[in-house]
Amino acid sequence: MGPHCNGTVMVFLSSTLIFLGILIWKQHQKRAASYGRYSLKSSTTKILIPANVGWFVQELPSFAVPVLLIYQSGELDHLGSKLLLCLFCGHYFHRVFIYGCFTRGQVVEIFFVLKCFVFCALNGYLQGHNLIYCTKYNGWTTDFRFLFGLMLFLLGMAFNIHSDHLLRKLRKPGDTSYKIPKGGLFEYVSAANYFGEIVEWFGYSIATWTFPAFAFAIFTSLSLGSRAIYHHRFYVEKFQDYPKSRKILIPFLF
Ligand SMILES: NC(=O)c1ccc[n+]([C@@H]2O[C@H](COP(=O)([O-])OP(=O)(O)OC[C@H]3O[C@@H](n4cnc5c(N)ncnc54)[C@H](OP(=O)(O)O)[C@@H]3O)[C@@H](O)[C@H]2O)c1
Repeated sequence: MGPHCNGTVMVFLSSTLIFLGILIWKQHQKRAASYGRYSLKSSTTKILIPANVGWFVQELPSFAVPVLLIYQSGELDHLGSKLLLCLFCGHYFHRVFIYGCFTRGQVVEIFFVLKCFVFCALNGYLQGHNLIYCTKYNGWTTDFRFLFGLMLFLLGMAFNIHSDHLLRKLRKPGDTSYKIPKGGLFEYVSAANYFGEIVEWFGYSIATWTFPAFAFAIFTSLSLGSRAIYHHRFYVEKFQDYPKSRKILIPFLF
């Protein structure tokens, strides 16, 4: 344990993440989170911003907060801590500067972006502080948990990026229509990008072997898992020729 580890805050924020995940799951029993195809465009009081600006702004703290924490703390002790922080920041570097800049998604409401911004700032702090101050990864890079978790993380990230790429290719710039996704893991599930993201964060939580990382994996599974059900239902209702064998989220199982 490093001298500055704030264990109580870590446990509190991690438990809050799980609680929030359950809350979102329950809310999704009534309606899907209002962005993308489920955004409510009826209200005139809403301020809408382009999707690429929204993604850039809302996800930036997940990258910037850990980077600032590393800068503040100076040199990290162990290779394991450096690699694990690189995984987390690498994911969000891609999400902010590549996914965020090239998305062809539709406009998003500013209040939703602000909510996500706060979430990403807190989660960036939780994961960054935990890795920098509350863990010691001496000799960890040869541990089976690190190696297995790393493999899962990279596999999940590849699934996630490839699936998001397939979705982006379904549209020309300016188009906001929905088509049947084809290729890659979409041949097996309706929410292939979500499956990749969930595998990624479970891999990360095994590689770090900490409560905050497990809490984030659980949050991701609950929030994206429940949204995947809406996506699947949307495709089945909209497209008569939607492949019958395609599952919702987990190939061959669910
Ligand atoms: N860790 C977490 O808790 C978390 C939470 C949320 C998102 N994410 C990640 O962030 C990324 C984006 O999430 P998302 O919820 O926006 O994913 P999504 O609903 O699958 O949409 C991804 C992008 O593809 C477009 N799209 C989706 N289906 C389409 C279709 N059938 N035809 C044409 N275009 C289609 C969407 O446009 P529209 O916007 O116009 O629908 C959006 O731009 C994913 O990689 C996800 O895993 C992670």
